Amino acid sequence: MNRDVIYDLAARLTASRHTVFLTGSGVSAESGIATFRDARSGLWSRYRPEDLATPAAFRRNPALVWDWYQWRRESVARAQPNPGHRAIAEFERRLARVTLITQNVDGLHQRAGSSRVVEFHGNIMRSRCSLEQCGAVVEPAPVDTTSPPPCPRCGAWLRPDVVWFGEAIPSAALEMALAAVEDCDVILSIGTSSQVQPAAGLAAQASARGAFLVEVNPESTPITRRADCVLPGPSGRILPALVEAMNAVAGNGD
Ligand code: OAD
Repeated sequence: MNRDVIYDLAARLTASRHTVFLTGSGVSAESGIATFRDARSGLWSRYRPEDLATPAAFRRNPALVWDWYQWRRESVARAQPNPGHRAIAEFERRLARVTLITQNVDGLHQRAGSSRVVEFHGNIMRSRCSLEQCGAVVEPAPVDTTSPPPCPRCGAWLRPDVVWFGEAIPSAALEMALAAVEDCDVILSIGTSSQVQPAAGLAAQASARGAFLVEVNPESTPITRRADCVLPGPSGRILPALVEAMNAVAGNGD
């Protein structure tokens, strides 16, 4: 990790008017939550998304889909936020304005202390009625009942309150994300492979209108080439180092 790069970035964040953090499953990897596309441990290397994460899969086999999400909920409930999550919460407290857009459904940013989180792909700990016209949201998702459990309002099946392949991003989340991307002067893309749209387009969109684009990821991705600053490595190490550099910058009166 290049010390000068980290210090320059800390100074830029301190001066930033509006910073966007865009996170993906890599941020939770150090909490023991599987990413999606890692060749060995990623969920999509072991399971087929078309069997588990589409509306058609749920219609075909609701019990299988519900139980798979229940298994993921249990691993999320056991997990703890890591230093990367905590550093992002610290940035929210310290910087002029922060918007945190996460593709993660695990709620670990909130548990680490981030208070304003745009949940782009929903939250696995919530469930909602599978009938759109009912609209009931149930939190926490019920356990130890039939799988899937019935909606307490209308009796239809409950489903996880997450975005499946082929589904639209919740409109409020999309609007908040697009507004932030149009307004920010710095955007950090952290722990995401930048392969899933529309989330993947947000960093490029901010960069195209002049925002300074930072990528934190041990691997390169489709946006690495256009990033103004690349910090290759795990977010649980890099982000706390950035907070420390910010403390030092503040201490120097810079
Ligand atoms: P991916 O699994 O596609 O990418 C995870 C990224 O995290 C990879 O680029 C890794 O190199 C990186 N990574 C791994 N460990 C890391 C660490 N310790 N620190 C920083 N980065 C690390 O996951 P996402 O990009 O989040 O969608 O996937 C996007 C969407 O695809 C998910 O939200 C999910 C999935 O299908 C839905 O469920 C709708």
